[in-house]
Amino acid sequence: MKKIKNIYVIGAGTMGSGIAQTAAVYGYQTTIMDIDPNALQKGQAAIARSAGKLLQKERISEEQYQAALKIKGSGSLQDSADADLVIEAATENPNLKEKIFAELGETATDKAILASNTSSISISRIAAVVKHPERVVGLHFFNPVPLMKLVEVIEGKQTEKETVEAAMEFARSLGKTPVLAKDSPGFIGNRILIPMINEAVYTLAEGVAPVESIDEVMKLGMGHPMGPLQLADLIGLDVVLDIMQVLHTEFASDKYRPAPLLEDMVADGNLGKKTGRGFYVYE
Ligand code: CAA
Repeated sequence: MKKIKNIYVIGAGTMGSGIAQTAAVYGYQTTIMDIDPNALQKGQAAIARSAGKLLQKERISEEQYQAALKIKGSGSLQDSADADLVIEAATENPNLKEKIFAELGETATDKAILASNTSSISISRIAAVVKHPERVVGLHFFNPVPLMKLVEVIEGKQTEKETVEAAMEFARSLGKTPVLAKDSPGFIGNRILIPMINEAVYTLAEGVAPVESIDEVMKLGMGHPMGPLQLADLIGLDVVLDIMQVLHTEFASDKYRPAPLLEDMVADGNLGKKTGRGFYVYE
């Protein structure tokens, strides 16, 4: 298998920019792509801020910081032609992901590994639209990507062993620990985490306790670094709802019914930290 050198990340949102930053800091030639020039600019600014913080804390070197600033921007999938590894981190929408992968099937080389950072959509479904489904794999990072040590590696029905091994090795080369999971809704992490957050929203909506108390209980009682509502704000309430809907549909079980309060907050555009308002208000 060809050695991975060039990485092409699709989507300059929170996850895409975190992934691109981490790849660049660990020595990969990295390009970040977004069809929206504004989003691309915002993503690159977020990378500079985050890498600057890590430099200040001496968690990365000056050279690594400079590498993060040198990430190339792209506005078209055509630029994926020289990538050894493409990591798609676009919006969590199955139709959009299929469209991107169908296009990648034409623009990327036959040798490239095509990975999706999907947090719950089936890798086998995404792989079905490309010529080489054996080279499609899930690489699921956790937010904030530069700090979290885990990457879930998802093996689709047709993913070949070499692709899985290359994905595991790539995660290790970023200083992360890869954990292999089958292609099942929510994989491991989100199948457990997101229903817990959903339950916290029901607990709030039913008036059992206010936001701060719910978070306090999970932090002090269970040793979680953040409370579930604080974490929902960090992940984005739209993302939490999307994942809950995938679990609800795929498992066809009422135990995954999204909390109506979560649906209302998303409909009102209160998506958490990124919009300045979620369960908490951000300046
Ligand atoms: N880059 C650089 N620095 C960052 C950062 C980033 N992207 N994000 C946060 N930081 C910084 C903070 O700004 C803070 O800096 P200052 O100390 O200078 O203010 C520093 O990291 C540490 O923050 P805290 O003092 O709050 O320290 P902490 O020990 O609580 O660590 C944390 C922060 C690592 C985020 C920790 O709170 C944590 O582990 N939280 C849980 C996160 C989690 O569960 N993530 C998974 C979400 S689920 C997911 O991502 C999957 C999905 O598909 C939805």
